[in-house]
Amino acid sequence: MMAASAETELTPFERLGGHATLRAITDRFYDLMEQDPAYAALRAMHAADLAPMRASLPSFLAGWCGGPRDWWQDNPAKCMVSLHSPFAIDRDTAGQWAEAMRRAIADVAPADVDVAQAMGDVLERMALGMARR
Ligand code: HEM
Repeated sequence: MMAASAETELTPFERLGGHATLRAITDRFYDLMEQDPAYAALRAMHAADLAPMRASLPSFLAGWCGGPRDWWQDNPAKCMVSLHSPFAIDRDTAGQWAEAMRRAIADVAPADVDVAQAMGDVLERMALGMARR
């Protein structure tokens, strides 16, 4: 009988450290967006109050990486990519999103560096995939 190792049975959500890590990454991400002029164009696309995003993004990320799917329960029939179609996302602003997210992940420094690296890579591909120009 094949015995799967404990590591292969864990989801990326668990390997990252669950909701606490995703909340910390999200808060750092929006702090950077609010404070670093390098992300001014990205910041300007968002509503004045980022509090709803600080609640929504960790909930999305949790389900996205194999944890509880609350975001999908709260947003039935919503697709994250098509939800972005009203925004004029170009390669510059998509790149700002991806860079701020990479920095936020690096600053929070999840213990599992492989999953942390993969998270940054895949989110960067998703963000650049949303760019239309
Ligand atoms: C992997 C990439 C991305 C993820 C996972 C993501 C995630 C999210 C989430 C969870 C929301 C809130 C939707 C809701 O729950 O109702 C949202 C909204 C939004 N996103 Fe993204 N996003 C990504 C990329 C981008 C990019 C590249 C841009 C712009 C360059 C962007 C700009 C926005 C804006 C402007 C909103 C509306 C927020 C507001 O009204 O304040 N997103 N995104």
